[in-house]
Amino acid sequence: MNLNSIKAHNKIEVMIELSRHLLFLMILAIETSCDESAVAIVEQGTKVHSNVIASQIDIHSLTGGVVPEVASREHMKAILPTLREAFKEAKLDWNDITHIAVTKEPGLIGSVLVGRMSAAAFAFAMDKTLIEVNHIHGHIYSNWLDIKDSPQFPILSLTVSGGHNELIWMPKDGVIESLGRSMDDAAGEAFDKTARLLGLGYPGGPAIEKAAQKGNHLAVKFPIPKLEEYNFSFSGLKTAVLYYLQSKQNLLQDKDFIADVAASFQYAVIESLIYQLMKAVKEKKPKEVHLAGGVSANKALRSRIQIELNELSYPPLFRFPVKMSYCTDNAAMIGAAGFQKLKHKLV
Ligand code: KG4
Ligand code: ZN
Repeated sequence: MNLNSIKAHNKIEVMIELSRHLLFLMILAIETSCDESAVAIVEQGTKVHSNVIASQIDIHSLTGGVVPEVASREHMKAILPTLREAFKEAKLDWNDITHIAVTKEPGLIGSVLVGRMSAAAFAFAMDKTLIEVNHIHGHIYSNWLDIKDSPQFPILSLTVSGGHNELIWMPKDGVIESLGRSMDDAAGEAFDKTARLLGLGYPGGPAIEKAAQKGNHLAVKFPIPKLEEYNFSFSGLKTAVLYYLQSKQNLLQDKDFIADVAASFQYAVIESLIYQLMKAVKEKKPKEVHLAGGVSANKALRSRIQIELNELSYPPLFRFPVKMSYCTDNAAMIGAAGFQKLKHKLV
């Protein structure tokens, strides 16, 4: 769809045609805040026409984690090919795009800048409005992607990823209130560090989840962080794993031992997240509970939340992103959040 295609003969026709076009948003979205160069095209904040992700995992797995300077340079190489691929996959072109959305913050500054400067240049060259989106809002709205129904408010949303842990209260459409966040490391960061200590590689989350399936979660009693209010802390747990492994160096080649430590660590993280989430569910009584961010890919966490919610006399609907690729960093979620920002006139 293209505004140049408006063929109207009088003022009223022009106004009707214009309002129709203004309600129609086809957003080109760009996300480069960490180690994924991502471009997506999203219609009306939900229908994903393309969601292309150029991952740097192979490069960062050599160093066991993201080196910011390396990440920025990789984004510079990947951004244009990823953009072309997004148009190709969607079978659309610039004339179809009404707006450009990009991650503004938080993230690795060099990485964020590649996306923001590219988006600003595209917006200027193609005469499109630029919408700057908070990355965490992107994760929150990943639960709006590719769904048939509309989420019902009030919603309690837990975003758990490598860089952030945030418990969000959405009393009504367009209102986002933070109830609590991580005071130090986010859960994903703890997954990555523990995986490195166990020699399981990067990214740590999927590797720990796989190893944990064969382990006994009660084998090691790691501390379960339970903070005041709705805040989170995982650095103590990370250190507890480090000290424990230092005392068991001779067992680090033993697969059963690794599986038990992975399962016990994952159990401690899940218990901590459940503690804060269920405290908030009981107090706030939301209609829906949402889980988002890279750690929302974890099946043990998902099923544990569902079990806890089922025990309530008023079980809220539980959502997590409909595709695994919407859990970890992606640009479709930035398109979804950009749409909401425009819808609520926050641009
Ligand atoms: O949302 P995300 O892609 O990036 C940030 O915004 O930080 O999250 C990445 C994090 C990594 O720490 C990764 O280990 C974790 O999500 N992760 C998982 C799983 N898949 C990814 N953690 C636990 N279980 C998983 N299956
Ligand atoms: Zn993220």
